[in-house]
Amino acid sequence: MTKRVAIIGAGPSGLAQLRAFQSAFEKGADPVELVCFEKQSDWGGQWNYTWRTGLDANGEPVHSSMYRYLWSNGPKECLEFADYSFEEHFGKPIASYPPRAVLWDYIKGRVEKSGVREHIRFNCPVRHVEYRESDATFLVTVQDHERDVVESEIFDHVVVASGHFSTPNVPEFEGFESFNGRILHAHDFRDALEFQGKHLLLVGSSYSAEDIGSQCYKYGARSITTSYRTRPMGFDWPENWEEKPLLKRVDGNTAYFADGSSKQVDAIILCTGYLHHFPFLPDTLRLQTNNRLWPLGLYRGVAWEANPGLFYLGMQDQWYTFNMFDAQAWYVRDIILGRIALPDYETMRADSQAWRRREEGLEDDEQMIRFQGDYVAGLIEATDYPSFDIEGVNRTFLEWEQHKHRDIMTFRDKSYPSLMTGTQAPAHHTRWLDAMDDSLEAFLDAPARRPTATPEKANG
Ligand SMILES: Cc1cc2nc3c(=O)[nH]c(=O)nc-3n(C[C@H](O)[C@H](O)[C@H](O)COP(=O)(O)OP(=O)(O)OC[C@H]3O[C@@H](n4cnc5c(N)ncnc54)[C@H](O)[C@@H]3O)c2cc1C
Ligand SMILES: NC(=O)c1ccc[n+]([C@@H]2O[C@H](COP(=O)([O-])OP(=O)(O)OC[C@H]3O[C@@H](n4cnc5c(N)ncnc54)[C@H](OP(=O)(O)O)[C@@H]3O)[C@@H](O)[C@H]2O)c1
Repeated sequence: MTKRVAIIGAGPSGLAQLRAFQSAFEKGADPVELVCFEKQSDWGGQWNYTWRTGLDANGEPVHSSMYRYLWSNGPKECLEFADYSFEEHFGKPIASYPPRAVLWDYIKGRVEKSGVREHIRFNCPVRHVEYRESDATFLVTVQDHERDVVESEIFDHVVVASGHFSTPNVPEFEGFESFNGRILHAHDFRDALEFQGKHLLLVGSSYSAEDIGSQCYKYGARSITTSYRTRPMGFDWPENWEEKPLLKRVDGNTAYFADGSSKQVDAIILCTGYLHHFPFLPDTLRLQTNNRLWPLGLYRGVAWEANPGLFYLGMQDQWYTFNMFDAQAWYVRDIILGRIALPDYETMRADSQAWRRREEGLEDDEQMIRFQGDYVAGLIEATDYPSFDIEGVNRTFLEWEQHKHRDIMTFRDKSYPSLMTGTQAPAHHTRWLDAMDDSLEAFLDAPARRPTATPEKANG
């Protein structure tokens, strides 16, 4: 009988799973029935931007945390698909740091070409997954908003690809209830222009704080203050940007920090990360972890050790992204197709523990990048996913880090060679700090058509 596989989510990870199967079918693999349930009305996951915050048109929590003017925060050469290059998609080499719409277009290009959209049921949030011991299957319950019905279907396997940067982690600080300004989480941040001319406080010291702060600087915030819990980001910030230790409390519009200093601020953005949140899974199937490189319970980072009919994609903290999701999806596909045999529970657990021990010993970014590179390389070795230069990707990440530390406001002006095609990316036609239009057209257009006027900046 044909196996049935449910994939939860049509973001980059879920789409990688569809593409992995389609690639095997092209080469003659036995058919598998694929059903991908997607909560949103279109594919692309985080990359499918919405102006909405709070609830979507169906009353579901808005998934995407992306905002206007978001540009890739790492070189595109590090995330390039090994079976579908940027050059193939755009028909020419493009600059190394594309804005969101360009990456969304690239993600869509590969799956449009492979014709997998027919497997996706949009506006269909998965409500519940139940394992049935009697026949070793999964009962998946879904709300179909288009037909306004709740239905259950039986599957042999479930692949959870629902992402983990969507449910905000929202700490509270003393005095928040009487703060005279806007307080929001990064998940609800949409447009930097809202903060033009404002004194802005961002709590957190990771990518959201760095990038939302940079956006707001670029679009004219009056000053930026970032507040760290563990350690400062330590970049050479512009003059109107300072880093402070953890926020202790606010009183009116005054924010007080752990070092006793204080500052008047107009708005506060909590860049305090996200929770792994799977409201549709019972405890026996639910991954419980913080955001880290090696969550426990997943053999080779994907197979749920306690019940390996269930898989997770993309649940790790991410240096590698799209091509890591591919490596995982190809590996999961081959388990489902019976090409890779899983060892017994104890062996899987011991393997994961060994990776976790190595993860716990990682001391700096370079070691973390190499750790994830080794993980991806190990998966790729086991399948027919096109092999690529992992060490080259690691080196590109390290160069990117150096560029950021040299100048956090110009690192996006650098370019790198593709590790898939060898082609050197051209320099972008406009410096990132001056590129106010983040549309696909503006990014791909010839320099003659670039916007010339720069909005007046309160920060000069
Ligand atoms: C603000 C921000 C910026 C980022 N920028 C970059 C970047 O520049 N470069 C980079 O490489 N990565 C970036 N990332 C990382 C990003 O998470 C990955 O690029 C990628 O989107 C992860 O893919 P995914 O498919 O695992 O998850 P997601 O993209 O989150 O997709 C998950 C999908 O599952 C669906 N879903 C969720 N729950 C259900 C349910 N119950 N039923 C049905 N469907 C469901 C969602 O609607 C969504 O479509 C960024 C992340 C954020 C938050
Ligand atoms: N342009 C872009 O491409 C872009 C932009 C934004 C985000 N992203 C992506 O989005 C993902 C998520 O990044 P993120 O920065 O939102 O999350 P993150 O990397 O998980 O970082 C969370 C931050 O919140 C801090 N924090 C958590 N709880 C706190 C508390 N109670 N008080 C104070 N600080 C607290 C953490 O501090 P500690 O260090 O003390 O734990 C950490 O600095 C990443 O993959 C990133 O690449 C990309």
